[in-house]
Amino acid sequence: GSNARCEASRTSTIQEASELADINWDNLGFGLVPTDYMYIAKSPRDGVFTEGGLQRFGPIQMCPSAGILNYGQGLFEGLKAYRKEDGSILLFRPEENAWRMRTGAERMCMPSPTVEHFVDAVKKTVLANKRWVPPPGKGSLYIRPLLMGSGAVLGLAPAPEYTFLIFVSPVGNYFKEGLAPINLIVENEFHRAIPGGTGGVKTIGNYAAVLKAQSIAKAKGYSDVLYLDSVHKKYLEEVSSCNVFVVKDKVISTPAIKGTILPGITRKSIIEVAQSQGFQVEERLVAIDELLEADEVFCTGTAVVVSPVGSITYLGKRVEYGDGVGIVSQQLYSALTSLQMGLSEDKSCWTVVV
Ligand code: COI
Repeated sequence: GSNARCEASRTSTIQEASELADINWDNLGFGLVPTDYMYIAKSPRDGVFTEGGLQRFGPIQMCPSAGILNYGQGLFEGLKAYRKEDGSILLFRPEENAWRMRTGAERMCMPSPTVEHFVDAVKKTVLANKRWVPPPGKGSLYIRPLLMGSGAVLGLAPAPEYTFLIFVSPVGNYFKEGLAPINLIVENEFHRAIPGGTGGVKTIGNYAAVLKAQSIAKAKGYSDVLYLDSVHKKYLEEVSSCNVFVVKDKVISTPAIKGTILPGITRKSIIEVAQSQGFQVEERLVAIDELLEADEVFCTGTAVVVSPVGSITYLGKRVEYGDGVGIVSQQLYSALTSLQMGLSEDKSCWTVVV
């Protein structure tokens, strides 16, 4: 019947990958460069994901009635693979992404792959696309796992079938500013999340919800938007694509995780790195006034890594921080990236060889 046709969504149109020779490794931004393979596994609702496998990267078929297309039942993840000088490839804390996907899946009424399945599938996908991992120092291979309700629904309900898919793309700097400080505008009208909502999980809808404010901000020349809490309109939450930190008198503060903020893996790692370097780090409510009086502000995320903030604009008032890259963010950026790239001793065993 028609349902069977909708479920037969395994076939993919073969699409040629981009040509490796066409890549300028010195000028990678953050855009999709199609690679060779993607990984796909399926699961029935309340079921266990099948082992899955690799197929050529390309379009996937989906029933127009799929849960993800109609009701946004989906999650994504992001992590990176770095190539070392000796040719080996390192992942950074992939189990953390696996756990976060499991937490998010529970919130979104989806089954999720086990941590072992997730990490194994990430490794397989990276290995199959090994030639797309940039040379050392030129960038990384961004890994994008997706979990989605691919089965057909019409009434509002969890989908009867789920797809776990991983694709990859070589990337460089996220912001067009490169490593230079970014300029943020504090959003006073739109909010990203509400208490009890889904702001604390990596569901796709959170990202669609910020596009409007982001495009208005970009049209005015800002790099991105910083959101305030929706109840008091007073406390910092996060930027569209990353977490935020403020530094005042050598004390580093960041909004506490309380359901409306994405628990970033880079955020968590930067907290630990900063503490190990002797900094006092506070996870708490951080008021907008503190942001305006800070010595330094920076953002963290897998895509943005550690990005210094050069200015903040709030209710028409622009505050600038120092005369460029803050010393604390620069120190933390170096410490984190040398760990991720395998250039410094990995005492916490955060990196995983593919
Ligand atoms: C990441 O940093 O990996 C993210 O998922 C953010 C995304 C908007 C690029």
